[in-house]
Amino acid sequence: MCGIVGYVGSDAPGARPQGVVMGGLARLEYRGYDSAGIAIVTDDRERVAMSKKAGKLVNLEKHLAEHPLAAGTAAIGHTRWATHGAPTDANAHPHLAAAGRIAIIHNGIIENFAALRAELQDEGVEFLSETDTEVAGHLLAREVSTGRSLADAMRVITRRLEGAFTLLAVDAREPRTVVGARRNSPLVIGLGEGENFLGSDVVAFIEHTRTALELHQDEVVEITPERVTITDFSGFVVDREPYHVDWDASAAQKGGFATFMEKEIHDQPTAVADTLRGRMDEHGRLQLDGGMIHESILNSIDKIIVIACGTAAYAGLVGRYAIEHWCRIPVEVELAHEFRYRDPVVGVRTLVVAISQSGETMDTIMAVRHAQQQGAPVIAIVNSQGSTIAREADAVLYTRAGPEIAVASTKAFLAQITAVYLLGIYLAELRGNKFPDEIEALLDQLDAIPAKIQRVLDTSEAIREVARTMADERTVLFLGRHVGYPVALEGALKLKELAYIHAEGFAAGELKHGPIALVEEGLPVIIVLPSPRGRESLHSKVISNVQEVRARGARTFVIAEEGDTEAANYAEQVFFVPSAPVLMTPLLSVVPLQIFALELAAAKGYDVDQPRNLAKSVTVE
Ligand code: G6P
Repeated sequence: MCGIVGYVGSDAPGARPQGVVMGGLARLEYRGYDSAGIAIVTDDRERVAMSKKAGKLVNLEKHLAEHPLAAGTAAIGHTRWATHGAPTDANAHPHLAAAGRIAIIHNGIIENFAALRAELQDEGVEFLSETDTEVAGHLLAREVSTGRSLADAMRVITRRLEGAFTLLAVDAREPRTVVGARRNSPLVIGLGEGENFLGSDVVAFIEHTRTALELHQDEVVEITPERVTITDFSGFVVDREPYHVDWDASAAQKGGFATFMEKEIHDQPTAVADTLRGRMDEHGRLQLDGGMIHESILNSIDKIIVIACGTAAYAGLVGRYAIEHWCRIPVEVELAHEFRYRDPVVGVRTLVVAISQSGETMDTIMAVRHAQQQGAPVIAIVNSQGSTIAREADAVLYTRAGPEIAVASTKAFLAQITAVYLLGIYLAELRGNKFPDEIEALLDQLDAIPAKIQRVLDTSEAIREVARTMADERTVLFLGRHVGYPVALEGALKLKELAYIHAEGFAAGELKHGPIALVEEGLPVIIVLPSPRGRESLHSKVISNVQEVRARGARTFVIAEEGDTEAANYAEQVFFVPSAPVLMTPLLSVVPLQIFALELAAAKGYDVDQPRNLAKSVTVE
């Protein structure tokens, strides 16, 4: 939610600051695309050069081509997901203060901005936008006018701000400096040779450096071409070890596909295989990626609560079936934003599992903190290395899906399910619910999944064809049962997100309790059929559901396991996926649904990588 880039790298003004920042914005645009802007510190000591435009980054690019900015030594850039104020040119970041000497950009929400704004207005400050951000710029201006350095000024003003913020600022009088601060929203530092970078995410600067540092909660960073100085808000210097980013710029490119979404769907066999790779030590114990929760604690837990939002929550729902079956521990799955407010029963014997692709979803961060305050151990399943949730949890298991750029999640979902399964297998062994040979069999079954996903991808033309005929549909229903239920929910979510079609996922058993009233002549219903090799009764019950909706005029499309000869008798069309153990079927059956949504949205001419109104990482509550 809002992408931020900063760069400093030379004594003499040149084109590189603008080039680096615009390149970074292009990579961060998935975080928000309501407007974009850039400020450059030039050799004018009174004013920074600035340009900003409502709409996608391309509008800013066009504007810069027609009205070039002067060369610079440092620059900051922003791509916005609007919170305070409509997506207009005026509300776009950067915001200027001190008659153009200071430029500031922001990700987050400054909750006490109204009081600060009133205070500044009383002093005669004029506001040019409706944003909460502008107050921070004017507060900075007030401090630098007393002779403070930009970094000192930042430390002073951050103590007055409430809420969530990543702030980057430049001052025309300090041409070799960019200053950043963070509370709750992310900021990563990239270390270069004679140049340094700041970004909401390493993607912002990955093509220039793979050595990175995280800025932690309530810290300020000052970068110059030679130096990175991190302090807390009081000015105490903090030492921090850099880490190496284990993927490169090519992982964040389209790799020959037309869209990131298409590419990421095709990355899924690798995402699952990488998430599984090298996980178990010689004693068959799961290797966590960081932190630890003592085995005696894991042995004593009597409940698991999964907290997550969006697609990640559906990965938790899938995981619940497996963990309860393998480990005999009750599992609840709770939307992170609901968790905190329902006074959940959480204690030292509750294991909280936080699932998040970005590791920066504010609702999930807040839920993690709430759980920790109640004494619960928290394990994070996160894709983004070094992100807030990964750092704050007691232990972390990284999904290794690589950077996910398309806003709607695909490969992270499969990697999250895989990671939850690994956690379940680990707990099952640790707590003695499974024998070592059973554990090995489960791991072997998981190892076979990537090749099967590849087969689904290789045979996806049939579902693409059907999707292309549905561009005029107004509603599509998805039905599933047991592990097919969260798959139906995810299938519906993908269709809403990408194709803006009203879609609902239902538990097939619930059909007769209400949803069947929605069925009318010609309504497309997509049914995820349970494996006939699972509980036999479930398969036949869902077959009955297919017949029930068909009898009422619905067009029925079924996702079924290869060899399921019965499915074809009741469906307009069947899409087969390879057979797999029942609990692992979601890793296969969701793939045709992702492709269906992608193809349908593309047929409607929509931008599948950046659907309207959405942001990849929701860093506000
Ligand atoms: C946003 C994205 C979704 C994602 C959800 C949770 O809403 O658009 O695709 O599932 O956030 O994000 P997280 O990074 O916590 O997995």
